[in-house]
Formats: sequence, C-alpha cells, structure tokens
Amino acid sequence: MGDAVSREQTAREVAELRQLIAEHEYRYYVLDDPVISDAEFDKLFRKLQQLEAQYPELITPDSPTQRVGGQVSSAFRSVPHTRAVLSLANAFSEQELRAFDRRAREISGAQDLDYVVEPKIDGLSVILRYENARFTLALTRGDGLSGEEVTANVRTIGSVPLMLRNVPEGAPEYLEVRGEVFLPKEDFRKLNEEREQSGLPLFANPRNAAAGSLRQIDPKVTASRPLRALFYEIREIRSDFRMPGTETGCLELLKALGFPVPVYNYCRSIGEVIDVVSHWQEHRHSLPYDIDGMVVKVQDRALGDTLGATGHSPRYQIAFKFPAEQVETKIQDIIVQVGRTGVLTPIAMLEPVTVSGSVVSRASLHNETLIREKDIRIGDIAILQKAGDIIPEIVAVVKERRTGDEKEFSMPEACPSCGSPVIKLVDEVAHRCINISCPAQLKEGLIHFCSRDAMDIRGLGPAIIESLLQAGLIKDAGDIYSLTQEDIAGLPGMGQKSSRNLIESIEASKSRPLPKLVYAFGVRHVGARTADLISRHLQSLDDIMDADEERLMQIEDVGPETAKAIVMFFRQDCVRQMIDKLRNAGVEAAFGAQAYQDQAGPLSGRTLVLTGTLSSMTRHEAKEHIERLGGKVSSSVSRNTFALVAGSAPGSKLERARALGVRVMTEEEFLDLVHGRSSVDGN
Ligand code: IVH
Repeated sequence: MGDAVSREQTAREVAELRQLIAEHEYRYYVLDDPVISDAEFDKLFRKLQQLEAQYPELITPDSPTQRVGGQVSSAFRSVPHTRAVLSLANAFSEQELRAFDRRAREISGAQDLDYVVEPKIDGLSVILRYENARFTLALTRGDGLSGEEVTANVRTIGSVPLMLRNVPEGAPEYLEVRGEVFLPKEDFRKLNEEREQSGLPLFANPRNAAAGSLRQIDPKVTASRPLRALFYEIREIRSDFRMPGTETGCLELLKALGFPVPVYNYCRSIGEVIDVVSHWQEHRHSLPYDIDGMVVKVQDRALGDTLGATGHSPRYQIAFKFPAEQVETKIQDIIVQVGRTGVLTPIAMLEPVTVSGSVVSRASLHNETLIREKDIRIGDIAILQKAGDIIPEIVAVVKERRTGDEKEFSMPEACPSCGSPVIKLVDEVAHRCINISCPAQLKEGLIHFCSRDAMDIRGLGPAIIESLLQAGLIKDAGDIYSLTQEDIAGLPGMGQKSSRNLIESIEASKSRPLPKLVYAFGVRHVGARTADLISRHLQSLDDIMDADEERLMQIEDVGPETAKAIVMFFRQDCVRQMIDKLRNAGVEAAFGAQAYQDQAGPLSGRTLVLTGTLSSMTRHEAKEHIERLGGKVSSSVSRNTFALVAGSAPGSKLERARALGVRVMTEEEFLDLVHGRSSVDGN
C-alpha cells in the first residue's frame, strides 16, 4: 500500500521534472535565453535519472534522459518519404537572383514579391515525424524518395524536442518537419583537438563531422558529439491545424511548437534580399555554424504553390551560393606523387591555412603544363580556394610579392619511387613512370583494388597496405587472399581482434560480382560504368581476358583506346599470375563461365519507377528486387519507363504515367512478378 503511494508520488515527480527539464531545454535551445546555470540543469537531470533508475517502468522514450543513447543498431533501415524531399536550385550572382524574382513575378502575376531570407546551413538535411505530439521518426534525405532511419541518433540531439509544446490550437496529431543537423564550428574545433590527442583521424570539416556523428551505429557515440539542429520547413501538419499562409508564419509556428529555427530576414523586394544576402556574405563568420549561402523563399505560400516545382526543386525558393572563400598562403615545396597508372602528379606543399572551415596543407597542381600556365614557383605566395567548397586548388600566385628567391619547378626525369625513366606522350599533359612494377604504382593500385566501389575490403586501407608491402607479405592483389591472421597480427598497430576482422573482410570480398572485380583491376579508361558494361556483355572473366580489340569495341562506351588498354592489360604475365591467385583463392567472380547472370532477368534492360508506399516492403527492398531481376529504377516517369509501380497514396508520377500511357502496376502485380508468379507480360 505504502509502496503504491510512493510509486504514484514518484510518477508525479518524474512527470514534473520532465516538464521542467523540457522547459529549460526550450529556453536554452530555442529562445537562446537560459534562466538557470548548467550546474543547476545537471542537478535536475540527475535527479530524474535517479528516480527512473529506481522505477524503470516509468521510463518513456520522450524522457530527456533517453537522449543519452539507446540500442546499437546493425544498419540503418531505409524508409520511404511521404513525398519527395526536394532540393534547391542555385543562384551565384545578383543577376541570377533578379532573374529568379522576375520569373516568379511573371508566373504569379504579382507586381512585387515579399521574401524571407535564411542562412543556408551546411549540415545534413533531416525529416522528423511527430505523432500525437511525440517524436517518433527521423530520416535522412537519402535519394529524396527514401531515407535512412536515424531516430535513435537524432533523439540524442539536445535541441530536438522530444515532445511538442502546446500552442493555442492544442498539439498537432501529425507533424512532419525538415531541418538541418550540424556541428557548431567551435565544437568541431574541440572535437578535432580531442581526436588529435587520442591519435584518431581528423574530420575535414564540420559537415563531415556532423555526418559521421549522425551515422553512428551506436547512438551513445552520437550523444557524445554536441550536434545541433535548426528547422525551417513544415512538410505536413494535421489535423485541426491550418498550414500558415506565409513562410514567417511557418517559422513562428515551428518555434512555438518547440523547434529552434534559423535567424531570418523579411524583405519587401528583391533589392532588399540582395542587401541582406551581401550583409551575410560579409558576416557569415560571425554565425556559430558554417553556412554556404542564403536561402531565399517567397513569403506568400499560396503564391509559392502557383509557381510549382521543376523535377527536383521548387520554383519559389532559391539558394544563393557564396563564392568560394579565398586565402593566401606560401608554397613551401612542390613534391611529386606517383599514381596507380604511373601518372606523376605535382603537389604543392603549403604553409597550413584555414580555408572554408578546414586546415589545408597541400593542393594538387595536376600537371606541369598547368604549373607553367599559372607560372607557379616554389616559394610563391598562392591564392587558395576550395573548389565546390571541398577540393583545395591554387587559383593564382601573387607575382607582386616575389622576392627573387622563388624556384621554378620541373618534372623529374626519373620516377621518385623507383628511379625508372619518366616519359611524356606527345598528346598527353601527364608524365608517367613506365615501370609496371613501380612500388608506388603497385601501392596505389592495391588501394584502388580494396576501395569501396571495387572489392570493398573494409579495413584494408593505405596504411596497412603500406605495411604489408614493406613486410614483403604481398606483391600483388592476388596475395591478399593468402594472408593469414598471424601475418596481419604481426604488423605494427594490429592486434588479434583487428587482424581477425580484416581476415573476415577479405573473405567477404570473395563474393563480389564480376563488374566490381573488373573495376578493381584499375585498367586505364575502365571506370565503374565501363566495367559494368563489359561484364554485362562478356559475362565471364575468361571471356573478357580472351576478347580482342574488335570484340571489345562492340561494347557501348568502349573506344579503340580503352579496348587496347584492356587487351594490353590482360596480356601481361604478372596480371595472369595475379588472376590465377584470385581463382585459386576462390574469388567467385574470377571463375565460372556465367559469372554475370543479370542479363537473363525478366526485367533486363527495363526501367521501372516507384511511387507511393508499398505495404509489404520498403522502397529500398523494392529497388533491390527490381535490380535482382535485371531492371533499373529511375526517379521520374518518361516514355521509356517500362512500368510504374504504384503503392498507396501515389504522387503526381501516377498522373504522368497515365498521361504517357506507361503501364501502372499495383503492389500485388509487382509481388507476383517478384515471386515469379507472373511474367512481365502479365501472365
Ligand atoms: S529550404 C525544397 N532552408 O540546403 C528544399 N534548405 O538544396 C527546401 N538547407 O538540402 C530547403 N539551410 O538541406 C532550406 N534555411 C534553409 C536551409 C536549407 C540549409 C539545405 C537543405 C537542402 C539544401 C538546398
């Protein structure tokens, strides 16, 4: 009896504490106006943890204590979006912004348009669902049609409300919002500092760090990273709620429901928009998070709707992308790297400098011709930027700042790795080392062989490959398959567990299909797509090895140069020996006459499109079935579409399919096909 009373009391106390904590989180994250100290907040939090430990049955998923991280999951489930998650068209200049405004006014017939301008946060897009005011699901954008479920990880983010706040209309029955998950700049700096101290690899920029943190299979790791989120779009709200008529109305409603929103500016004309955009371009660094531009949205949503959308982006919103940030730094040296195909690439070694959010100390100079054209010398002050905000590139050197001590660079005559002669073909800009057993080439080739799109041998990265080569344990890709756990455990930095894992990934890679193996060989001109076409056409490794140039040139994408490179490649003794090793080791794709069987699939050569929700499987699974049967999945319906598979609540694709006379399959018909109960012709 006494127990029941105290349990009831505790239940009440727990509910009050949760309410109080949620209120303080709201003041801190949404209003940016905390009223208690961190220490006081921690005290409330610990009190709640204590009570929940005493009465575990009182724990609910929306308790703030549950942010610390739930179950470890093995993989992320793919879940279809309720409707496509679009992205934005870009504008790069004032003129393009004005053109966007002109077009929007023309289509809408409006004299003048009002706009809202928000920072374009450089993070990861997420979609969150709330059912009966409770946070129930979080998805990444994925391919726009379906995303990966990251609910457990998003739950750990302090600024994500686990329960919606009551507004005068009550709480929505169903709410779907879109926002951006990111790591504030300062936290990124600290995280990398800690990683450096613990000898862990550094993240290149805050965006990568946020992506890495969100895609952790253990939510506890995510919880340990100070991720934040800001929300900018209501995708759906039901039921007694009316969608606000304006963008600012949406942002205000989001805020009232408990979501942090980005700073925004309301503008009465495109002129004002341009002023605001240039203000932020200048002051972007004062924001606590990285932004790569500004998003401009038509304020009146009804007008926005009349403007509609083109395939992937709405016409009533546009992203203004800031020009790449440029900084100056000194070129301390130019070194030469030897790549997989023997190409020598000059690399500028720079005085480390921060540009667009990360520290850069090297930049590829591509080839000697480019160095001549830009007149780049060792000792020069260079203007550096990041192409696409990712790859460092030297735009120019500042000749006015030369002292006379700068040195011109020229390509070495001997390979820096093996000392063999370097040649330059007349019709190429590249210099090459022609020694096919050059250690640098071998190493790069092995890195390529193990890479994700090739044989995907997890854990066999550049450092271990280097140690294996140095220890003389491997001489070619075939040797990878005769490595033993003892061999690997003896390498620096490898223990029993890591070597066991590596042996397992090597074993798993034996079942990679033929196109992956063909791509893994790294034959010149043979990228992933060409490897796929060749495999499809010739169907087995033996046939590929035996094919002459004429036969190869019958394949789409294969021109005379590629055909020649393939024939030359397989003619080499060392290649034949390597392939024998793969065969003996049981690499599946390396033997068997019919290694590539997709051709025979009933959907072979056919493209299907998916719309709506299927009740029996996820979109991802449907896609896998289609591919297994030899077909392809596309995101839009065209005259070439073989069939549209329509689940419940299909989108506009259904109308389009009907208009074009494209066959529409019900889920049942699709299942019959998948399970071989009917043929593609429907009988
Ligand atoms: S509105 C229809 N607002 O930028 C797209 N997007 O392509 C609606 N982003 O992937 C997006 N900050 O993840 C919007 N304030 C903001 C944003 C924002 C960042 C991202 C978004 C999207 C990309 C635009």
